[in-house]
Amino acid sequence: MSVLYTYLEDLLKQPYALPTVIATVSIAAFITYFQGQKQQKQKTPESNRNDSDTKKGSSESSESAAPKPKAFALPSTPLPPPNWSRSWTSEELSQHDGEDDDKAIYVAIKGTVFDVTAKKAMYGPSGGYHCFAGRDASKALGKSSLKVEDCVADYSDLDEKERKTLDDWYAFFEKRYPIVGKTA
Ligand code: HEM
Ligand SMILES: *[C@@H]1O[C@H](CO)[C@@H](O)[C@H](O)[C@H]1NC(C)=O
Ligand SMILES: *[C@@H]1O[C@H](CO)[C@@H](O)[C@H](O)[C@H]1NC(C)=O
Repeated sequence: MSVLYTYLEDLLKQPYALPTVIATVSIAAFITYFQGQKQQKQKTPESNRNDSDTKKGSSESSESAAPKPKAFALPSTPLPPPNWSRSWTSEELSQHDGEDDDKAIYVAIKGTVFDVTAKKAMYGPSGGYHCFAGRDASKALGKSSLKVEDCVADYSDLDEKERKTLDDWYAFFEKRYPIVGKTA
């Protein structure tokens, strides 16, 4: 113990000792991080046993084998067909903002109502995106805003770039969430 202490004391007296220690620790942290990444990559392809569905680089096919959902992952089961015959008034929609634990959580974009209950942690009362829930939040999504006053359906004042952002979000939701109707 005291030997180690003396050694460290001597070491720290050297010129550039501190930068050297910092550099060493950084490199060690870097290596640890990359080994962790490598191990994760080696763990997931349990599904790769079957060669028929692992044609080179089809990373999405292994998603269903992942134990917990990744950020932005596509759903592992196919979505139900959209129910365009259902129309939601803003009062009805507001019942689905996640405050009632027994009800599904809905987010509407450009008049299309998506069931986002699967991401309760994000859209529920304690979620960072709760302001989108139970309403059409087109304007906020287009403006990349989390302000409550922007969580409204009217996106008429969005510029071209913001409209593109909004359409990108629509496509994102369309791929991930069941469509349960349109806004009235
Ligand atoms: C510093 C700012 C932000 C950070 C660090 C951040 C981070 C993230 C992360 C990590 C996710 C993926 C979470 C997951 O799928 O588990 C996500 C999703 C999302 N973010 Fe953000 N975000 C930020 C700002 C915003 C803003 C300003 C908006 C406003 C439009 C926004 C809208 C969304 C939406 C709609 C999703 C998709 C949620 C879903 O999977 O349904 N984010 N964000
Ligand atoms: C791979 O999947 C195909 C069809 O899904 C099946 O016929 C075959 O036996 C599987 N191969 C292995 C090694 O599991
Ligand atoms: C679609 O919505 C209509 C109107 O609310 C409802 O009667 C019907 O059962 C729904 N269809 C499906 C497949 O959920």
